[in-house]
Amino acid sequence: MNTGERAVAGDSTPDSRDHYSDVSGAATVESAEPAGRAESVEPGERGGAEREEKEGILTERVGSANLTPGQKVDILLEALPYIRKFAGKVVVIKYGGNAMPATGGVEESRRDYRDSLAAFADDVVLMRSTGMCPVVVHGGGPQIDEVMSRLGKVPEFKDGRRVTDAETLEIARMVLVGKVNREIVSALNVHGAVAVGLSGEDARLITASARAGDLGYVGDVKVVDPTVVKTLVNDGLIPVVATTADDQAGQGYNINADSVAGALAAALDAEKLVFLTDVEGIRAHAEESSTIIRALTAGILQDLIDQGRLVSGMLPKGEACLHALRSGVRYAHILDGRVPHVMLLEFFTDKGIGTMITPHDEGAYHSG
Ligand SMILES: Nc1ncnc2c1ncn2[C@@H]1O[C@H](COP(=O)(O)OP(=O)(O)O)[C@@H](O)[C@H]1O
Ligand SMILES: [Mg+2]
Repeated sequence: MNTGERAVAGDSTPDSRDHYSDVSGAATVESAEPAGRAESVEPGERGGAEREEKEGILTERVGSANLTPGQKVDILLEALPYIRKFAGKVVVIKYGGNAMPATGGVEESRRDYRDSLAAFADDVVLMRSTGMCPVVVHGGGPQIDEVMSRLGKVPEFKDGRRVTDAETLEIARMVLVGKVNREIVSALNVHGAVAVGLSGEDARLITASARAGDLGYVGDVKVVDPTVVKTLVNDGLIPVVATTADDQAGQGYNINADSVAGALAAALDAEKLVFLTDVEGIRAHAEESSTIIRALTAGILQDLIDQGRLVSGMLPKGEACLHALRSGVRYAHILDGRVPHVMLLEFFTDKGIGTMITPHDEGAYHSG
């Protein structure tokens, strides 16, 4: 691959990554093994990696004890330019409800859920330890569905957004603020006093307005006042945001977490906006995993949206990426959150995974 293609002058960090550099147009479509692209090194090369495939998701545990000292040093050195590049930069991470394993009330699934939260927390805390400033925005759609079904209510969606009557709003609030938010904060705080949970209502972080259409109490982000989040970040804390918010009169709304993540990334002038979801990236054809697009620009993403290629839950993500990138956010990433430690693989190794979106048709994206 021509790694020089996307190299930015004076910068030998992420732009020279293998898989993003092999670009002859503004978008790269590449055939992919489902989710398995998380690993780019054969087990033997890493020394004692254990691979496990479960429901089509390939995971790999690397026994670092089996690595030679030289291999360990190589891994640390590979991470160094990325650590330097992202130190002090805000990274908004949307942790999707679908990236968390469903529990269905089953004990074994609850363990998977806890393990998955713990792996997510490891990554976020490690990112913070390297100097990044992570801000977490979370969803919780499947968790809301689960409680609704226990209560005998049937969830309804339009264009990837939940139709929300007064009772659904109440349930969404209880699940998002009372359950999922607490669980993420607890998983992060296993590592020390690092995380603080809040929702859109806190210090008027988000002011909502009713979204047009027949969606009930589904809100749009009207105003973001990021003061409270900035204060927490400046104090070295990791804000964890549940996406309920009030309008000016105090009426509550449920806001799509993708939209909140995009708006918050824009308001914080974030370096990166990251979506952890349950597919390996954006696909040119929603149903075909072999059509994953590795790198694209905001312009191409707009075209894909106009062509109706992003549907259901990917549509608000695409729109949020566009909003953020047009407001000055430098990179947006769609990653498979079911792959353990996917963010470390994306941010600290040469071989990125998932889909990366950048603002412009930069020269670096074109071969000519
Ligand atoms: N073009 C596309 N590429 C990839 N996934 C897509 C695309 N269009 C729609 N999707 C769907 O979007 C889903 C992710 O959104 P969603 O289910 O809302 O998850 P989350 O909880 O992360 O918000 C994927 O599982 C996939 O079915
Ligand atoms: Mg969603």
